[in-house]
Amino acid sequence: MDRRLFLKAAATVSGAGIVGVNDRAEALEHEMMHLLEAPERPPLAKSEDEEPLSVMPAKPTLLDFFEHRFAPASHVLQSATRAMKHGMSEEIILACLLHDLSVMNLVRADHGWWGAQMLAPYVPEKVSWAIRYHQALRFFPDPSVGYEYPEMYVRMFGADHEPEPYIKAAAEYARNHKWYMEARSITMHDDYSFERGVEVSIDPFVDIIGRHFKQPKEGLGYDNSPTAHMWRTMINPRRRL
Ligand SMILES: [Fe+2]
Ligand SMILES: [Fe+2]
Repeated sequence: MDRRLFLKAAATVSGAGIVGVNDRAEALEHEMMHLLEAPERPPLAKSEDEEPLSVMPAKPTLLDFFEHRFAPASHVLQSATRAMKHGMSEEIILACLLHDLSVMNLVRADHGWWGAQMLAPYVPEKVSWAIRYHQALRFFPDPSVGYEYPEMYVRMFGADHEPEPYIKAAAEYARNHKWYMEARSITMHDDYSFERGVEVSIDPFVDIIGRHFKQPKEGLGYDNSPTAHMWRTMINPRRRL
């Protein structure tokens, strides 16, 4: 983790007066992703409404979203790159690649739940499940796999902060689930993926997306899936109609 990046993000979040530990963690991660990608731009906490969005193809694919809406997507690309280097399964690599997309592009609160829901029609169930529960599991160490409570949360909130009851309940449920290691693997490749100056690309993941992501022929947003509206909203979040 880049210490200067963390301190800068922590200062912004501290000044924002956010009360709940979970909300502060969300804001911190969000801010770190923002600083990683565009340190010279104003923080995401302020309005970005003035920035023009690029026009997307009529039938957008996941790769089009990466190019036009998620780019540079450094954090998730770093996560997926680490997962690939460590020999994780293709499904886990895909989960790492997609794990924070709702944070970057749709909503901030409960990004695991939102992201999982948005992706569920298009990815293996295991992948969306893992994305949902990484949000809760990141607060809970698991020495058996070498996952420690993230250092940045200790620095940010102090060692005595407790996650909210619904987060504890979700983590407990996930810990006893057959797909626990899928969600845990996201957290293991997550906390360490806020490095600056690391070259990453979507290219190594194109084939994995092709094999595991069900790209609708109508384009994401226009396929009448239960979450198509979320993709349409990302295409043009400022539409009033
Ligand atoms: Fe996350
Ligand atoms: Fe993340």
